[in-house]
Amino acid sequence: MTIIYEETADDGPPIPEQRITVRVNGRKVVAEVEPRLLLAHFLRYTMRLTGTHTGCDTTNCGACTVLVDGRAIKSCTMFAVMADGHEVTTVEGLASPSELHPLQEGFKEKHGLQCGFCTPGMMMAAKALLDRNPDPTEEDVRWALSGNLCRCTGYQNIVKSVLWAADKLRAESGQAEEAS
Ligand code: FES
Ligand code: FES
Repeated sequence: MTIIYEETADDGPPIPEQRITVRVNGRKVVAEVEPRLLLAHFLRYTMRLTGTHTGCDTTNCGACTVLVDGRAIKSCTMFAVMADGHEVTTVEGLASPSELHPLQEGFKEKHGLQCGFCTPGMMMAAKALLDRNPDPTEEDVRWALSGNLCRCTGYQNIVKSVLWAADKLRAESGQAEEAS
């Protein structure tokens, strides 16, 4: 039984579960889930990847944004069974064991967060942008983050954080090219 539905489990016949195989942050995961389980809840409650936040469950706030096959999606809008056979990246998959991802550094350097609730979703939406457009304009960043709400920082420093990360990523890839 999926953990978040345990308290209603005695109210009716058991809900049939479905086996899914998902690659999460590079790791293959096989799980039995109810078809009604949201991907956001699968990540938080089954995988214990609590960096993916849920602020509304209604596709408004973007706090639950993750990458599915490299595309930013709101994981409260997708069922876990729809991720079967796909690659999911959460905020926990950004950093390497030894150093922060440039986006994480950028949010630190440019003060892109206060309470931090929106931050994982902001970072994942920004990651999808920088993967397809390494040299975005401010307008590009604002457009890419337009589905993500922040209730405390305001957007100015978030945009600066993403642009800082873009500069750093481009500098790193330039250095890698020179070295090769
Ligand atoms: S929790 Fe998914 S958009 Fe708000
Ligand atoms: S930093 Fe608090 S909601 Fe964005």
